[in-house]
This record gives sequence, C-alpha cells and structure tokens, in this order.
Amino acid sequence: MRTQVGIVGAGPAGLMLSHLLHLEGIETVVLEARSRKHIEERIRAGLLEQGTVDLMVETGVGERMKRQGLVHHGIELRFGGRGHRIDLSGLTGGKTVTIYAQHEVIKDLIGARRAAGCQIVFEAEDVSVHNFDGSAPGIRFRESGKVTELACDFIAGCDGFHGVCRPTIPTGALTTYDRIYPFAWLGILAEARPSSDELIYAYHEHGFALHSMRSAEITRLYLQCAPDEDLNKWPDGKIWDELQLRLAAGQGWKLNQGAILQKGITEMRSFVVEPMQFGSLFLAGDAAHIVPPTGAKGLNLAVADVRVLARALADYYATGSRELLARYSETCLRRVWKVQRFSWWMTSMLHRFADENAFDQRRQLAELDYVTSSRAAAQSLAENYVGLPME
Ligand code: APR
Ligand code: PHB
Repeated sequence: MRTQVGIVGAGPAGLMLSHLLHLEGIETVVLEARSRKHIEERIRAGLLEQGTVDLMVETGVGERMKRQGLVHHGIELRFGGRGHRIDLSGLTGGKTVTIYAQHEVIKDLIGARRAAGCQIVFEAEDVSVHNFDGSAPGIRFRESGKVTELACDFIAGCDGFHGVCRPTIPTGALTTYDRIYPFAWLGILAEARPSSDELIYAYHEHGFALHSMRSAEITRLYLQCAPDEDLNKWPDGKIWDELQLRLAAGQGWKLNQGAILQKGITEMRSFVVEPMQFGSLFLAGDAAHIVPPTGAKGLNLAVADVRVLARALADYYATGSRELLARYSETCLRRVWKVQRFSWWMTSMLHRFADENAFDQRRQLAELDYVTSSRAAAQSLAENYVGLPME
C-alpha cells in the first residue's frame, strides 16, 4: 500500500490535514485507532475561532456549521457577584467566535473525506511509524487482524497527546516544556436552556466556573475541582448548587437546570515539544502541544498547525522545495507559544490555586478589574480569544 502523506489520527488535526491536502491534489491515508462512532460522539470542547470558521467555510466543510453554529459577539467575566461584558466584535473589528461541538466538526470532515474517496482506516491496531529519518518512511498497522505496510513520502503525527508518533522520535531529539495545574474541570452536558446568550467565565471564592452551551436547548457547564476528583462524590444536586453559587450575579440571576446527559473530568496542563518535526515525521495538534481548556484553544491550534503543514507540503509537491517544510516547526511554534501564554494567563487569572495567599487573590481581582475596565487590556484579551491572525 502506498500514499503521499500517511496521517496517524483522525482528530481535528488529522482530518483537516487530509482535507486541505486533498484540495491541493495530494493523496493521504488516515489511520485511526478508535471506531468512527466513538470519534463522532466523543464530547470535547466546542468553540471555533474566527479563522477556523473561515477555513471551514472557504474549504467547503462549513455548511452545517453555518446553519447550526451559534455566533458569539462577546463573552462575560463574572467576579465579585457582577458580570462584565467583553465586546469581542467591537474590540476586534467585527470578529466573532462560533459555538459548534468538536465532534460535529469531526462528522463534517469525515463526511467530506469519505465523499472524496479518501481512505480512513478506523480501528487500526498496533499502528507504528518507521524510517522517518531515512528515505523510505512507512506506517505499519493491523486491520481486522491483517498486517499492512503503508509506504509514504511523509508521515503526519496527528495522534493526540497519548499517541505513538511523538514517543517514537529518538530521545534527545526533542525538548519538552510543561506545567501541570493543581486542579481539573468537572464538566457536564445538560438538557437545559442556556441561562445567558453568551459564555460566562466566573471567578469565585470556591473556584472557577464556566457557563457554555451547545444549542438553544443544551448547556455545557464546568466547575474547577481537584485533579483527582471522584465523580461519585458529585451527585447532580451538588453540581447544580455549586454552579449556581459560583455563577451567581445579583439577586435575580438563576441558572437553568435540567437532566445531566454526560459528566466528566478534564485535566489541565500546558505542554509543548520542540521541534515539532524529525526527518519526514511532522507532529501537529495535541501530539505536539496541550493547552489548558480555559479559552478553548486546543482544536483551533491543531487547525492552525495543519494549515501550515498543508501549505508546506503543497509547496514541496509543486516545486520540489523543502524550504517551507524545514521551517514548519519554527512557523508553528511562534503561534503555539503565544497561545500557550494566553491559555496560561486566562487559567491563572480565573482559578483558585492551593498555594495562593491573600495577596494572590487581591492580584487576581485587580487583574479582572483591569481587563474589564481598560479598553487596551480588554482588546488584548479579545484579540487572542477570537484567534490571532494566521501566519
Ligand atoms: N494510532 C492511531 N490513532 C491514534 C493513536 C494510534 N496509536 N493514538 C491516538 N490516536 C487517535 C485518537 O483516537 C484520536 O482520534 O488520534 C486522534 C487524535 O485526536 P485528538 O486527540 O482530537 O487531537 P487533535 O486532532 O490534535 O485535536 C486537537 O484540541 O480541543 C482539543 O483535545 C482537544 O482533540 C482536541 C485537540
Ligand atoms: C466548551 O463549550 O466546551 C468550552 C467553551 C469555552 C472554553 C472551554 C470549553 O473556554
């Protein structure tokens, strides 16, 4: 079996890369460890930057998102029992963000790839990557018990944080930078009308809370919790009480409640590996970096990476030049580090830290006060939130 670019992982990074390369006339095969059903139903984040939305529309996979996505012009920061709106559009020359679940993006991309005849191997077992420092890169995998060798010109490691590609790169070739936060998020999906038209990021004595949504009928909510939190200690009633408490603003505000459809814990970490390439193996998305979810940058950063990679590969196949490929990591990392900074900053501003003292709390409140009262500070938040311009 042979293809031009072998892609490991059918998350947003792998599928979008396959789609962009197809539009450049480059053939790919995508190998995914899980079933199609699993990845089309897996609940992840759901906020798309302006640039991600534009790319989906421009490349013909934005049809359903344009119909079903919720366009947001602002967000609210809540602290001291009051809400403060950040006018994202007003501060960024009209840019917006769109609420559209990651698994819906996945469905749209799989649909488009399948319609174009792309081979996506689901439930690929024992995927391993070989010879990417030599002239004959290849991917070996088992499909329904049968071992297949896929020869390719390049390998794209889009297999997420726990994938096989990054660990296959020789130790010593990569430097990792990371930070683990002393908390996690308890997230729920609830059959309840959103209690506000916009997202609410709340700072409270008890810790952070976030009000988000998926549709006019479904609310997505998160609570800061311990990193090893036991979900069994959180019966539904306790979750709602805590959310109502942390999100409260004045007398009148009430959180709409409903049946909890899904509960889960999201760990929080910042992680970057440098460089994001080794020979003809290129890492993209979560395989190369992780951001804490405050600010919802994970998916958007994955899309930004593969945009750079698709352009570099297209240039190589069109001209034979490896110049853009050689600069892939450097180009991506400039954005990666700015997004790391923003995600860390939002996280630091909004969460309670176990080792903080009264000074830290006052400083956090001053930061929130500053960001919601200074146009310059609010504009900086807004510019990052809607997404920094693509290189
Ligand atoms: N072989 C084949 N596929 C694998 C392997 C493997 N050994 N290991 C992991 N995978 C698959 C996973 O099952 C998953 O579908 O790779 C895919 C990686 O997808 P994501 O984890 O979604 O990562 P990425 O595409 O980089 O997307 C960026 O941003 O919103 C965040 O974490 C969220 O997934 C999101 C990410
Ligand atoms: C979500 O809707 O899941 C979401 C939104 C904003 C975030 C994180 C998660 O910052």
